Amino acid sequence: MTSRVAVVTGSNKGIGFAIVRALCKEFDGYVYLTARDEERGKKAVEDLEKEGLHPKFHQLDITNQESIDNLQKYLKDKYGGLDVLVNNASIAYKEKDVAPFAEQAKVSVACNFTGTLDVCKALLPLIKSQGRIVHVSSDSGIWAMDGMSPDRASKFKSPTLTETELVSLLEDFVNAASDGTHTKKGYPNAAYGTSKAGVIVLTGIQARDLKGDPREDILVNTCCPGYVDTDMSSHQGTKTPDEGAETPVYLALLPPNVGQPQGEMLSDKKIVKWR
Ligand SMILES: NC(=O)c1ccc[n+]([C@@H]2O[C@H](COP(=O)([O-])OP(=O)(O)OC[C@H]3O[C@@H](n4cnc5c(N)ncnc54)[C@H](OP(=O)(O)O)[C@@H]3O)[C@@H](O)[C@H]2O)c1
Repeated sequence: MTSRVAVVTGSNKGIGFAIVRALCKEFDGYVYLTARDEERGKKAVEDLEKEGLHPKFHQLDITNQESIDNLQKYLKDKYGGLDVLVNNASIAYKEKDVAPFAEQAKVSVACNFTGTLDVCKALLPLIKSQGRIVHVSSDSGIWAMDGMSPDRASKFKSPTLTETELVSLLEDFVNAASDGTHTKKGYPNAAYGTSKAGVIVLTGIQARDLKGDPREDILVNTCCPGYVDTDMSSHQGTKTPDEGAETPVYLALLPPNVGQPQGEMLSDKKIVKWR
């Protein structure tokens, strides 16, 4: 019996749910559907069981350290680690949302960037050789960097930026949004986009850090799923969730020893240059 394991965050609906569906068909091992809400997660598992698929379930709220720690311990104790991690969970404010920009910046960065980073801090040390890590980001992250002042963008795009420095940049964005100085400091008026820019930049840093890692053949990449018909897009997206899952699943299932893509941003399975 195989003990390979794949984990997908935020997969009770939308693209994450479709990623689990595809992995259940194509990944040789256990596939974990995770959700912050246990009831919604278990209902999603039942829906896939009706399709003849057999995902497993574990609770995971990426903004809750205790929840992250529980999953880490579970995977370590039960399987000695994991093979595939798809960081899909995210939130996005609707355009018409009246929440102040300061709040949108704080909440978006806390979930989409910091939550993803916290999951990585807990689970990347458990990724096994030939593991695959995929962060679902967005083209909005590239557009956010395009909307920064040249000086600010050059900081995000610096090939020598460290994880600590990236965290400081995102903290600075949230603080500047809080006192209304973010545009003066060269940040764009984009809470979701800046949080996703952080994820894109983080991917490159993690790939660089993996160079000295004793484990073999671990690939980390990020991707935009496209404009997808989900709750997040208010069902305006042109792709189905299954179509949106194609690039994340492609990256999650990159065969052994291909060596690349590594640290890249992809859209429709093609590398997008953003530096
Ligand atoms: N849809 C698009 O057109 C589009 C375009 C570009 C990028 N993306 C990216 O694609 C990914 C999936 O988006 P989607 O369209 O499928 O969105 P969605 O339908 O809104 O689904 C988002 C998922 O993330 C979960 N989630 C939110 N906060 C969480 C947290 N703190 N902990 C754990 N799970 C959490 C949600 O759970 P609940 O049900 O509990 O809220 C839900 O399962 C996201 O990273 C998004 O940014 C989407």
